[in-house]
Amino acid sequence: MSFDLQDIPLDSAASAAIADQGLEYRLLDPGNRGALAAWVEADMRGFHHSRPRKSDAAHQLRILSDRRVLGVYDPKAADTETPVATVSGWPTGLTVPGGRSVDAWAVSSVTVSATHRRRGIARALMEGALADARAAGAALAMLTVTEATIYGRYGYAPAAQAATITVDRHRVRWIGPASPGRLELVEPAVLRDDAAAIVRRAVARTPGEVDRWPGLLDRVLGLVEPDRDSARATRVVRYDDEQGQPQGFVTYRIAREPDEPGILEFEFLVAATDDAERELWRFLVEQDFVTGVRGRLRSVDEPLAWLLEDPRAITVSDVVDHLWVRVLDPVAALSARVYGATGTLTLEIADPGGHADGTFELEVAGNGRGELRRVDDATSGPRAAASPAAPSTRRSRRPSQGIRLGVQELGAIYLGGVRPSVLARAGRMTELAPGSLALADRMFAAERTPHLSIWF
Ligand SMILES: CC(C)(COP(=O)(O)OP(=O)(O)OC[C@H]1O[C@@H](n2cnc3c(N)ncnc32)[C@H](O)[C@@H]1OP(=O)(O)O)[C@@H](O)C(=O)NCCC(=O)NCCS
Repeated sequence: MSFDLQDIPLDSAASAAIADQGLEYRLLDPGNRGALAAWVEADMRGFHHSRPRKSDAAHQLRILSDRRVLGVYDPKAADTETPVATVSGWPTGLTVPGGRSVDAWAVSSVTVSATHRRRGIARALMEGALADARAAGAALAMLTVTEATIYGRYGYAPAAQAATITVDRHRVRWIGPASPGRLELVEPAVLRDDAAAIVRRAVARTPGEVDRWPGLLDRVLGLVEPDRDSARATRVVRYDDEQGQPQGFVTYRIAREPDEPGILEFEFLVAATDDAERELWRFLVEQDFVTGVRGRLRSVDEPLAWLLEDPRAITVSDVVDHLWVRVLDPVAALSARVYGATGTLTLEIADPGGHADGTFELEVAGNGRGELRRVDDATSGPRAAASPAAPSTRRSRRPSQGIRLGVQELGAIYLGGVRPSVLARAGRMTELAPGSLALADRMFAAERTPHLSIWF
């Protein structure tokens, strides 16, 4: 996707819904630093954060230069320059099973001021964001969420989970193989360029990871506000392979009281190879003078339990529905990924939002590549095609295998994190012929459990 984010016109339906409230929907000019700074303040307030420090605000303005930034303004407010609602969006790739990156649209900074809540402003912004995503040609929209009850109504569903992993240091005895490379403790600033390259390769290994981390590396490496206590405590270790090529790193901090052993907290363990992943885990769990090791936003399917003699040294907690996906263009989305089994499957997709509605045929060849074709009349949608007044010739030759599902269920199974048969057991999907769910389970399976290791 290459275009100017400013060229997408303001969604007229969202503008009208907001104007009905006596408010104004605005696209912010990336050159207007004053307006952007007020927007950042509103975003921080919306998430109940403190006001940003100068260096943090400057960092956020840099990040926003790559985003489409929208605000809602109240002309009757005492401060008409600070928005009463915020949202931002930007194009980014999402890794799908098989390692390709699909064009996606990330949505973030969804806030509505407590003085203006529950009047439909968030709904207008979310529908506007989907219109922006479509205008940008994205196959899907995605977000990470504070609450799991907000976004289903717009067609999003949890597609990749994350968890907190805690390891009891005293129970650790490593039984995994030794890795052939070496570890180096490096200063965060030294790692910056290598880190970006490692991240790019690591992201391509895991469905659910996103490929643009605007400004995130500077933040996790503690380079945004280097004088902050948390930045000064940040340590970085890098794994280099036998050829001396950097293949992974982890950023961590050890919190401790005087004279007491500490707790090692890590934010990012990023590995482009299995060797790097194992060796970085080993480095973390074999630290001396710590009682435990804790990492957030880790995969629910880490290999760690198989690397320790005592798998009960590990506690998995706070399993969350971390990445939410909303399919907009089923053909682009489903044709991008690789499937776990060959076959032909009809998908009857219902989308109340009108973006992904239709009947499609998914055909997967021997190499796992899938091709999705619309098999109803694109203008009529599945319900119209099913009506006697609008018969479809393709539908009268219905293939024997197929499933009927909503757009949320499609988002849930897209990356392979949820089996279609589980959604069928929950009454959220039906099969068109016996055996279709078993086939769908095999086809939608992914080679690796989807995982997203960041917030955006
Ligand atoms: C969440 C938030 C954006 C909602 O804004 P809002 O303008 O009050 O929402 P709307 O009036 O447009 O409500 C739209 C729908 O969402 C529902 N809804 C709103 N907030 C909700 C919440 N926190 N939990 C569950 N449902 C919610 C409404 O009931 C309404 O439902 P309906 O479509 O069935 O009628 C706002 O409360 C907020 O800023 N929260 C703090 C920041 C935050 O958590 N943002 C989410 C980031 S992931």
